[in-house]
Amino acid sequence: MALQQEHLIPNEFITEIHGVSLFMKREDLLHPEVSGNKFRKLKYNLKNAIFEKHSKIVTFGGAYSNHIAATAAAGKLYGLKTIGVIRGEELGKDLEKTIQENPTLQFASSCGMEFEFISREDYRKKDSDEMLERLQKKFGLLYLVPEGGTNSLAIKGCEEILSEEDKNFDVVCCAVGTGGTISGIINSSSEAQKIIGFPALKGDFLTSEVEKLTTKKNWGMAIDYHFGGYAKVNSDLVNFINNFKLQYNIALDPVYTGKMMYGIFDLISKDHFSENTRILAVHTGGLQGIPGMNQVLRKKGLPQIDV
Ligand SMILES: Cc1ncc(COP(=O)(O)O)c(C=O)c1O
Repeated sequence: MALQQEHLIPNEFITEIHGVSLFMKREDLLHPEVSGNKFRKLKYNLKNAIFEKHSKIVTFGGAYSNHIAATAAAGKLYGLKTIGVIRGEELGKDLEKTIQENPTLQFASSCGMEFEFISREDYRKKDSDEMLERLQKKFGLLYLVPEGGTNSLAIKGCEEILSEEDKNFDVVCCAVGTGGTISGIINSSSEAQKIIGFPALKGDFLTSEVEKLTTKKNWGMAIDYHFGGYAKVNSDLVNFINNFKLQYNIALDPVYTGKMMYGIFDLISKDHFSENTRILAVHTGGLQGIPGMNQVLRKKGLPQIDV
C-alpha cells in the first residue's frame, strides 16, 4: 500500500464523562507499518526525495524509535535505500546480537535498513553539515530526514490529519515529541478550536519549539503527563493502557498516546473542560514500540503491556 492512498477512517466514540464527549481519530489505522503521524510526516518527504532523484534516505533515532521503524518500512515501499543513524555506539559492536534482541531494529533491518551506530556525543551533532558530510562519504548522496521526521514537509503532511468535519470538535489533543505533528494540526484547525499537546518529554521547552513552527495562538501544552520523562513509565501508566485496551479495544503506546489518554481522562475527571465539550484525541500510532518496552518492564519487574 503506497503512502498516498490514505482513506478516511471514521472517528471513534470513546466515552462520555461529566458531560464531556471523547472521540478518537484512528491515525494508527492508516497503514500497518507506517502508522499514525509517521505516515503524515513521511508522505511529502518521500515524494520530494523521489522528485529530486534520490535513491537513499538517511534519518536518526534511538534504538526503539517509531520513526526509524516507519522510515525503514516506507523506504521499502518506495524502493528507496534507508540508512538509520542510531544513538548508542555500543549497539554496533555485535550487530547480530543487537538485531536479535531489539524488535525495532530487527524490523527495520528486515525492511533493508542499514545502520550506523554513533556515540551519544556524536549524536548531538546530528544536525550539523559535518555529520551529513561524514555520512555521505560512507554511503554516497543522501536525502536527509531529521530525527522524529519533523521538517516543513512533515508539517505539511500533518496538516492533513484534521478533516473539514473535525471542525465540529471543540478540543483536539495530540502527543508531542518534536512538535511537528501538533504544528500541522494547529495550522489546519479553526480559530474556535483549542489544540492541546501532551509532551512526552519533561519540561516546557516544547512550547517554544512549537511557537517557532506555527503562528496561531489557539493551543497550549498539558505538561504534567510525561511520567518522569521520555520513555519513562510506571505501573500506573501500564495499568491504564491495559484497562483502556480491555474497555475500548484500542491499543495505546507507552511513550506517546498512553500518556496523552491518561492526561485527557485526568483533566476530564478534574472538570478542566466545561459540559458539552467535544474532544478529539489523535491516535498517532507507535504500537511497534510495545515489545521493546515490555523487555524493559520485565527487567524492572513491572507489569507488562498486553499485546
Ligand atoms: C506515536 C507517536 N506519537 C506522537 C509523536 C510526536 O510527534 P512529534 O515528534 O511530531 O511531536 C511521536 C514522535 O514522533 C510518535 O512516535
